[in-house]
Amino acid sequence: MTQKENHIPISATPTPRHVAIIMDGNGRWAKGQGEERLYGHRHGVDAVREVVRTAAEAGVEYLTIYAFSTENWGRPEEEVDGIMSLIAGAILSELDTLTGAGIRMNFIGDLASLPQTLQESIHKARTAEIPEGKLRMTLNVALNYSARWELTEATRQIGECVQRGDLNPEEITPELISAHLTTRGMPDPELLIRTSGEQRLSNFLLWQLSYTELYFTDTLWPEFDGAQFTRALEAYRQRERRFGRL
Ligand code: FPP
Repeated sequence: MTQKENHIPISATPTPRHVAIIMDGNGRWAKGQGEERLYGHRHGVDAVREVVRTAAEAGVEYLTIYAFSTENWGRPEEEVDGIMSLIAGAILSELDTLTGAGIRMNFIGDLASLPQTLQESIHKARTAEIPEGKLRMTLNVALNYSARWELTEATRQIGECVQRGDLNPEEITPELISAHLTTRGMPDPELLIRTSGEQRLSNFLLWQLSYTELYFTDTLWPEFDGAQFTRALEAYRQRERRFGRL
């Protein structure tokens, strides 16, 4: 192979197959508008809609959004209830459009302790069928999710396999651990976007983000739109991914 062939041009980095997003800044945006925090979350749903459409058009196969973390229960009850009914309503109102566009909704997190109405919306979305060959993108909605919860669950499951005698401790590999996570069967995200200027992972996909490119923007989530998502994809394409190699 010649020197030239060996050098992969930076622009050849393809579109990421999996993009994860920490949607942050709804509350601050609402405050800036002189409104209550829920007003920001409502506009946040509009941003989700636009970003989902743009991601599917760009050829992204998996989009994972952090909609509610296990830590978010610590917010005032009124805000928590508001977010829960907003998400339950958005799942139902978007379901036909998403299904028609070949976008499947998948939910990751400790779903059993979510309010009943939200669990019913989740059930409807999970049972919606996308015709054979028409699946374009999977939208993972992280709800009552945290990476430490997920890793604890995976560890427990693996421990049970060992205890039953179905698994030798020597057989525990990174691949086996990945297969016990909520994202099993999916590629790890190549790109993580976080809005609102915060530069933290906040207990999101800690295992899966090991080699992920991080993209931070000061834009508050309700103002994040398709053009800005495209800009994040372009920034990703400029990066050279080495995975610890030279
Ligand atoms: C963070 O802003 C955002 C959230 C806690 C997520 C709120 C939920 C949505 C946008 C709806 C998701 C929609 C669907 C369809 C799943 P923040 O409240 O932390 O803002 P702040 O940091 O400015 O206070």
